[in-house]
Amino acid sequence: MAIKVGVVGSGFVGATAAYAMVQQGVGREIVLVDMRKERAIAEAQDISHAIPFSQPLRVRAGDYADLNGSQVVVIAAGVGQKPGETRLQLLERNAEVFRAVVPAVLKAAPDAVLLIATNPVDVMTHIAAHFAGLQGVPASRVLGSGTTLDTARFRTLLSEHFGVDSHHVHGYVIGEHGDSEVLTWSQATIGGMHLEDYARLRQLPYDEALRERIDVGVRRAAYTIIEGKGATYYGIGAAIARIVDVIVHDQRAILTVTSRVDDYQGLSGVTFALPHLVGGAGVLGCIPLPLSDQEAAALRHSAEIIDSAARSLAG
Ligand code: LAC
Repeated sequence: MAIKVGVVGSGFVGATAAYAMVQQGVGREIVLVDMRKERAIAEAQDISHAIPFSQPLRVRAGDYADLNGSQVVVIAAGVGQKPGETRLQLLERNAEVFRAVVPAVLKAAPDAVLLIATNPVDVMTHIAAHFAGLQGVPASRVLGSGTTLDTARFRTLLSEHFGVDSHHVHGYVIGEHGDSEVLTWSQATIGGMHLEDYARLRQLPYDEALRERIDVGVRRAAYTIIEGKGATYYGIGAAIARIVDVIVHDQRAILTVTSRVDDYQGLSGVTFALPHLVGGAGVLGCIPLPLSDQEAAALRHSAEIIDSAARSLAG
């Protein structure tokens, strides 16, 4: 069966994700849905002009009903951060958007995996999983882009410092996709060597000043980019396309996506980003990453921030 992907929300993130899927040859049909139909039509038309330079597939604008038969539906609908705004400050407005969007998606594509990209993505994934649960859809079939982008940022900065292709740098960012996220330095490796050992091998600095610089570079990346150009979309668009590719081709990749986590570091029933095994059915399993005591404490703090934000909606 031809692989079909839906994208709800044809703003910067959704449209760039669709464009990235075309560039990566993900799927055979992409349907863009937006409350402003003319925006979806224009984006679909513009993106479709890139197809002759890539793989044969079809990009079109549609309504919710056109999502029927999608293997994955990306939900990128809602408002984005303004300069200086935190992702959590978007919660009330985007939760209101989700109250209409998620049931409509579930009605049109009841068998699809839902990939949430709207911020604050961890709480939004929790909300989407709640609506999906009401329709009998398992939580494993609802995942968020989580900290896949933050992990990429972490690996990019480490790659630049150590002079190694980022594909060969292994390090994870976990917890909230936001200010409380946790860079798991204790588990980061290059060529199977802990960073401290690799730095000694290559006679490169690996001190607190470096770790602080990279931490700020990852944690503040979105704020810096938004100050400069108003929004981020290339990094997240590529991350979404990668996650969709892993799902539609059942690639069983390990990605720091957001999913409900049960029984890890004393946390249960909270929705945040961890390394997860991802495949055709969505989240296939959680990787219980070993953490230092400091990292474990920071993760519990991050999970509490997410849980508290989710509870604030229920209140
Ligand atoms: C960022 C947005 C996707 O981190 O939250 O760029």
